Amino acid sequence: MAWSVGAGLEGKGVIVTGAAGGIGQAVARAFDTTGARVMAVDLDQAKLDELIVGLGGRGHIGVAADLRIISSHDALVERARRELGNVYVLANLAAVLRRRSSLEEITEDDWDFQHDINLKSAFFLCRAAGKAMVAQGHGGRIITFASQGWWTGGFGGSVVYAASKGGIVSMTRGLARTFGPHRITVNAVSPGQVNTPMLVTGLAPAMYEAMKEQTPLGHVAEPDELAGTVVFLASDHARYITGATINVSGGFLMY
Ligand SMILES: NC(=O)c1ccc[n+]([C@@H]2O[C@H](COP(=O)([O-])OP(=O)(O)OC[C@H]3O[C@@H](n4cnc5c(N)ncnc54)[C@H](O)[C@@H]3O)[C@@H](O)[C@H]2O)c1
Repeated sequence: MAWSVGAGLEGKGVIVTGAAGGIGQAVARAFDTTGARVMAVDLDQAKLDELIVGLGGRGHIGVAADLRIISSHDALVERARRELGNVYVLANLAAVLRRRSSLEEITEDDWDFQHDINLKSAFFLCRAAGKAMVAQGHGGRIITFASQGWWTGGFGGSVVYAASKGGIVSMTRGLARTFGPHRITVNAVSPGQVNTPMLVTGLAPAMYEAMKEQTPLGHVAEPDELAGTVVFLASDHARYITGATINVSGGFLMY
């Protein structure tokens, strides 16, 4: 294959979940600029409609779905294949974080809620998308979202969330092994701190400042600073990378 600076994503079908969220919107906009066709998935149709209207390209769709309904995943992927023409990329960002100030406060519902969306839904949606990519026979890209918490165990009352993100890293490696023979890569993006509602909700200002101070690049990331990594992993340039966890933390962690 001749080397080209382009991402090679023109006309490719891309599913972005959590697309109405802080990072998800930036990821959808970044894919739009590559000429890919985006199916933006999140809970609120009005927010998705607003996102789609703001994109410059054509052929994008916004689909409201609660990804905890596992039985809906096959139909969601099939709709993407039909309306976008193909499914080449799944960028799975949908997740929730419930902070608790002590271990005693954590309820069984807290555990189930965060694991249901962050890990269980992620697994079944990756499986559904991977199955469609295998059937198409043109390879594909699955991009999952971990967090610095997978490595640190989490800050600011986020141990349950961190555990779900540890699961994402292990799952990503397992899926990379399974799908590799089909030229489908599976990689995780692991942000440090990103300026979105998820980071700041319920976080003590002193903790926010402390994490910023421990970040060599000196600032909390803006969502756009994550989007390029996602597009890179989806691009032709990343075709020999699989099973990786890409640390995008401004040096907060170094690995
Ligand atoms: N913001 C950070 O500092 C940070 C750090 C590390 C990792 N991350 C990860 O990055 C990803 C994006 O996070 P963000 O900061 O943009 O958060 P966000 O809260 O702004 O966006 C998450 C989106 O997921 C959606 N979502 C939640 N439950 C859903 C469900 N059941 N079905 C469909 N959609 C659902 C939400 O509606 C929301 O729009 C997440 O996986 C998050 O864990 C974020």
